[in-house]
Amino acid sequence: MKKFIAANFKMHEPDLRAWAKFKPTSGAEVVMFPSFLHIPLFSGRKDTILGAQDVFWENLRSGGAYTGEVSAQMLKNFGVKYALIGHSERRALGDTNEIVGKKLKTALASGLKVILCVGEGEDVRKKGITSAKNFVRAQMKSALFGVKKKFLKDIIVAYEPIWAIGTGRTDKPADAIAMADFIRSLLSVSPTGGPVRVIYGGSVTAKNAKKFISQKGIDGALVGGASLDPKEFAKIISSVK
Ligand code: 13P
Repeated sequence: MKKFIAANFKMHEPDLRAWAKFKPTSGAEVVMFPSFLHIPLFSGRKDTILGAQDVFWENLRSGGAYTGEVSAQMLKNFGVKYALIGHSERRALGDTNEIVGKKLKTALASGLKVILCVGEGEDVRKKGITSAKNFVRAQMKSALFGVKKKFLKDIIVAYEPIWAIGTGRTDKPADAIAMADFIRSLLSVSPTGGPVRVIYGGSVTAKNAKKFISQKGIDGALVGGASLDPKEFAKIISSVK
């Protein structure tokens, strides 16, 4: 299966001139997550797939009275294929496990694929890897409650330990693999026969990407800060063999 490399721009303006020159050079599946505003500017690219950083939990095909929200249908109309759901930065802004679950089910039922983000904070990790696994299990359980099995193939799980996000402190590759295996074990096997893909996020850069991406147990990376520079992001992609 192709490795999956995603760029999460968060609330940053992409340098469009630099992105015009961007050419991913590997067989990886490359997905861009610009802000809602910048989605149209990345739509229509042939070498990358488009994603949205969030999606509303109601999908009213003809719209609805939800000021400030963006529906799955609206995203699809702009060519969006993936939605990022449950990112720790959104959870910190109020997305509870219940909201994450609702967004996940709506996105899947609307025909979007989903990157479900999970990961423990430093307080949990300090207690050891078993505590971290218990925390992640609870997040997974509540997000996936009620999700039909047929949709598992449309879910990629991003393991992003919060203490590794934007800190320059990555997880140890061996621990990230152990967590990815654990997450896969929770999901068993998708109906298409393939295991659910699990990617790693948290301070991935061109320098360290290979340590994660080249592992058999890690299906790719979700990159924040280092994805803002297209040259650096291209290097990360080219570290996929
Ligand atoms: P950084 O790569 O900046 O640590 O961010 C990771 C992340 O949150 C991607 O979603």
